[in-house]
Amino acid sequence: MRQSNLQYFVSQYTEPQKVQAEGIYPYFRILKSGQYPLVEYDGRQILMFGSNSYLGLTNHPRIKEAAKKAIDKYGTGTAGSRFLNGTIDLHLELEEKLADFVNKESALVFSTGFQTNLGVISSITRRKDYLIIDESSHASIYEGSRLSFSKVLKFKHNNMQSLEEILSRIDNDISDTIKLIIVDGVFSMEGDIADLPNINKIAHKHNASIMVDDAHGLGVMGEKGRGTVHHFGMDDDVELIMGTFSKALSTVGGFIAGSKEAINYLKHNARTIIFSASLPPASTAAVIETLNIINEMPEMIEKLWDNTHYAQRLLREAGFDIGNSQTPIIPIYIRDDNLTFLYTMKLFDAGVFVNPVIPPAVKEGHSLIRFSMMATHQNEHIEKGIDICAKVAKDLGII
Ligand SMILES: Cc1ncc(COP(=O)(O)O)c(C=O)c1O
Repeated sequence: MRQSNLQYFVSQYTEPQKVQAEGIYPYFRILKSGQYPLVEYDGRQILMFGSNSYLGLTNHPRIKEAAKKAIDKYGTGTAGSRFLNGTIDLHLELEEKLADFVNKESALVFSTGFQTNLGVISSITRRKDYLIIDESSHASIYEGSRLSFSKVLKFKHNNMQSLEEILSRIDNDISDTIKLIIVDGVFSMEGDIADLPNINKIAHKHNASIMVDDAHGLGVMGEKGRGTVHHFGMDDDVELIMGTFSKALSTVGGFIAGSKEAINYLKHNARTIIFSASLPPASTAAVIETLNIINEMPEMIEKLWDNTHYAQRLLREAGFDIGNSQTPIIPIYIRDDNLTFLYTMKLFDAGVFVNPVIPPAVKEGHSLIRFSMMATHQNEHIEKGIDICAKVAKDLGII
């Protein structure tokens, strides 16, 4: 076969093969079970501390039943975008529920969280406007910003002085300039919480707007899991709340919530809603039922927090550096990329599934193991998992 330039280029990319040759490649591990506290891999039962199913709802019988019923009624896909033939009544029912959940006038459902950020962030501001993003923002915020015509400025992670400096620099601009500050509510890799009260004060002073990506806060933070914005009592201050269904909300998909005018604008301008097929009926129905369950069973969220505090305590007692984590995302700092991979795979061999996080997902020198909690973990799972983490860490000289 002819060796094209493309084929030549891709065949030069051998980084994964090098890590595979060392036996420490930690990606694309194939599970043969759902997201339970114990998952099946290659005939073995592994303790799962790498799932984003914070409330353990991906296997809930009522949610599965709702998804099945939706398939029976609407089929497996919508065969079109929301804009054209792909809107079904379930989408509207879900949007009303979501708007109510996060206390906004309206909501708009997208097919993934990533697509939500791409569509919203690339279209909501104009060439003369500014997007001001936390440097630790999720990749989808970065990608949305790259697609935008606006000027993109980064401030140091959760650093109010840095945010203030940036806004002061652009203060002399003409009066209808939009300055949109975008942050994760709960930061996805290090598990810390955005300093929304101070971001809000600074935003007010400089006439800026705020958008919060609450992928990891919904179902977790605030009363009845209504999210980080609600947790801080800032429903009226944050103009746009983005969320995904791929974490606590049990399936896949995403949404943006805000004023009815903002949603009207996005419905007609966000390209990922206009030119991409809509959320399938099964996932739409699944989220509707998930929200019902979250509303009925706040004790699930309490259990998640009990588990989180218990695991944080045990990890600290074992001598791990878990930084500033305040949420069910608990980082175990390793700070060396190869050692992070090695530790991940040694833990996997010993029966614990965790995710390695290396740059660019975190800053250089901040490589970590992302240890995440579910409401369905029992104390025995947590104790056994952390015991194994400590034993392997000692063997490797991590603690
Ligand atoms: C903070 C944040 N935003 C957005 C996304 C994208 O969501 P989804 O998985 O629904 O595409 C994720 C998921 O990885 C995330 O962690």
